[in-house]
Amino acid sequence: TFPTLLIDGVSSGEWVNVRRTDNHVNHSPVTDVTNASIRCFNTQTQSTASTATVRAGSKIGLQANQPIYHESVTNVYMAKAPRNVTTWDGSGQVWFKASHSDACPPLVHEITANTNGGTQLTFPSMNSNKVEFTLPKNLPNGEYLVRVENIAIHGAASFGGAQFYLSCAQINVVGGGNGKPGPLVSIPGVYNGREPGILVNIWWPIPAVYPMPGPVCATA
Ligand SMILES: *[C@@H]1O[C@H](CO)[C@@H](O)[C@H](O)[C@H]1NC(C)=O
Ligand SMILES: *[C@@H]1O[C@H](CO)[C@@H](O)[C@H](O)[C@H]1NC(C)=O
Repeated sequence: TFPTLLIDGVSSGEWVNVRRTDNHVNHSPVTDVTNASIRCFNTQTQSTASTATVRAGSKIGLQANQPIYHESVTNVYMAKAPRNVTTWDGSGQVWFKASHSDACPPLVHEITANTNGGTQLTFPSMNSNKVEFTLPKNLPNGEYLVRVENIAIHGAASFGGAQFYLSCAQINVVGGGNGKPGPLVSIPGVYNGREPGILVNIWWPIPAVYPMPGPVCATA
């Protein structure tokens, strides 16, 4: 699980600013990409979180309850709530993907797999226990869901074998600008489960390319 929001590296505690997920006890993943649980996994625990105020341009992150040990890749998506995020379910074509990594411009986040030309797959997400990124300075003020998604693909050679570990934090962005982050996608809806980064045998033959699931990273 990813229970903890980090703001400039500082934890606000488990399930304080993150909606407690249905799997907070059993830690089981979502495997059906069309199931509404893949959005925030909080059908039983909708409104447990409080909203953290964060300045645009600061570093935020989501921390896992233990180091990631599956062969996996990680995305962060964000969606702006119409008003108060506490009572918002995140439905509609509202989500953009954001990153500070070399591969993505600085708007939320993805950590892909490296194929090393088809000789060996490596997974920078493995063994880390957090994802951090810088909120763009021009992100519009307002309340957002921030959704982390770690996609474990060790058993993804058959349909439905990829495991999604995820949660949604609630933040209120202040000091922002007038960016228009996009493209926007719906969750569920963004995946059909047959994407080459989701339905994939990572073991043999080793894929020569690994296309990261989801839209391109947002630009504002
Ligand atoms: C959706 O996924 C959750 C969690 O994996 C599961 O408990 C629920 O039964 C699923 N719903 C449907 C309609 O399959
Ligand atoms: C949003 O709603 C929650 C729950 O009703 C409330 O505690 C909070 O103060 C509201 N936030 C704003 C900015 O109105």
